[in-house]
Amino acid sequence: MAGVEHRHRRSTPGPGRLRRSNADLEQFAAVASHDLREPLRMVSSYLALIERRYRDKLDDQGLEYMRFAVDGAKRMHRLIDAIMSYSKSARPGVVSSAVDANAVLGETLTVLAAQIAESGARITRAVLPEVRVDPAQLGQVFQNLIGNALKFSTGRIPEIAIGAVERDDQCVFSVADNGLGIDDAAQEHVFEMFRRHHPQEDIPGTGIGLATCRKIIENHDGRIWLESSVGVGTTFFFSLPKALPAGDAPVIQADPT
Ligand SMILES: Nc1ncnc2c1ncn2[C@@H]1O[C@H](COP(=O)(O)OP(=O)(O)OP(=O)(O)O)[C@@H](O)[C@H]1O
Ligand SMILES: [Mg+2]
Repeated sequence: MAGVEHRHRRSTPGPGRLRRSNADLEQFAAVASHDLREPLRMVSSYLALIERRYRDKLDDQGLEYMRFAVDGAKRMHRLIDAIMSYSKSARPGVVSSAVDANAVLGETLTVLAAQIAESGARITRAVLPEVRVDPAQLGQVFQNLIGNALKFSTGRIPEIAIGAVERDDQCVFSVADNGLGIDDAAQEHVFEMFRRHHPQEDIPGTGIGLATCRKIIENHDGRIWLESSVGVGTTFFFSLPKALPAGDAPVIQADPT
């Protein structure tokens, strides 16, 4: 099994530069969402109008071109939404000193209940520790990793195991599946924005989920990495700082800049 790790490098920018680049990213996302959404809405509504008014005048090929154009506009909407959600996760949010990961996982499984039932997936979960994290962002990480484990399956019933081990002052969580796997060459790219390695007409997505997970985990001073074998399955690991002993600083309000 090959392994790929993403950790802070020595050249990681200091807090000032990082804050600035996060602010730049948020500003970019806000401008992109506002300025791109408007012309896109125009494209979509005129496409709908052409489809309604001129449907009878178009031959089969014309109708097919229309479908491609409508699909493209829909994909663009999804990408803009995904960029917004990525930019929101650029902020550490509100980090609590002791978050019960079992409760967060429980909520995530409720959100994914329909997808789990549809796939017939079997999910096993270990008892998870308490960690220092923004609970909403931990939920986003679980949701993308478990969502991926459900999506990138082979046709056999998905078996997904969620676990955790404690290592020094860190907890290492794992989400393991028996799905398609990711080949060695693709492994080092999966955390990059918009990187997808399975044909998109088969499986929905924008390729931003793992980039968001990496951003969230690194904002919490953790690491995220994976081990995978094609046709056997994939395990994603991520580390987070353990909960502080009771009595220590209760809530750390993240720097809002
Ligand atoms: N558990 C997995 N098994 C196999 N391949 C995976 C798994 N998780 C991720 N991948 C591969 O990594 C790519 C990037 O994952 P990511 O979650 O960022 O994007 P996505 O799921 O395609 O879209 P999104 O998360 O934005 O809906 C996927 O498109 C897929 O090719
Ligand atoms: Mg995903």
